[in-house]
Amino acid sequence: MTGRLHGVVAMDGPSGTGKSTVSRRLAAACGAAYLDTGAMYRALTLAVLRTGLDGAAPDAGSVAVAAADDLESVTDPSAPAILLAGEDVEAEIRGPEVTAAVSAVSAVPEVRTALVQRQRDLIAKAVASHGGIVVEGRDIGSVVVPDAPLKVYLTASEEIRAARRASQDRKAGRGGDTAAVLAAVRRRDRLDSTRKTSPSHAAADALVLDTDELSVDDVLAELLRLVRDRGLVT
Ligand code: DC
Repeated sequence: MTGRLHGVVAMDGPSGTGKSTVSRRLAAACGAAYLDTGAMYRALTLAVLRTGLDGAAPDAGSVAVAAADDLESVTDPSAPAILLAGEDVEAEIRGPEVTAAVSAVSAVPEVRTALVQRQRDLIAKAVASHGGIVVEGRDIGSVVVPDAPLKVYLTASEEIRAARRASQDRKAGRGGDTAAVLAAVRRRDRLDSTRKTSPSHAAADALVLDTDELSVDDVLAELLRLVRDRGLVT
């Protein structure tokens, strides 16, 4: 282990940048907790779809907010999990139905307010018990923890991100046609970065890391260097 992380590392950026993999590995390497906030938006989206509503339905927001009380996030980086009313929904929230509907549900201001509050509570608890936490999402450095001592925004070209996502989907047995994935990536980027409430963008003081030419190991090495240089591990 590298030493123990103190405080919060905010990891933001769109999908397909390797954010989840490197965030988990960074947390594991520094004895820290790990929180995937995208999984929380996905689980509430699943709750909406299970009622038979689509993500953009007028009542979707209130169904999602009500379901937030049933949400449980396990922040152990070696076995992260998301539970909805006690049910492990990790596999189902990665499916195409949830992926297609999550941008609409996560754009509802009341849904964001409910989840940001829960995220801040989880982060405070993890810092109290572990000392540090790596949190990944779209608005962590800009909204959820604006005073995080390290904010990183991972980027990569649309094509590279779509190819990575398609390969992940194929490995998980979920199709994985690169052209279709590229169209879905473009659509979700557009919706997430143009919504009115906390659109996805790099915080002004975030370090932007382009991962087009970087492997997961390269990104992890850079993050470990950053937490050491900033005195965040002892
Ligand atoms: O990281 P992901 O692809 O699992 O995230 C799913 C969706 O949730 C993403 O399209 C945008 C939304 N999201 C968000 O609005 N804010 C976050 N902090 C995390 C995710």
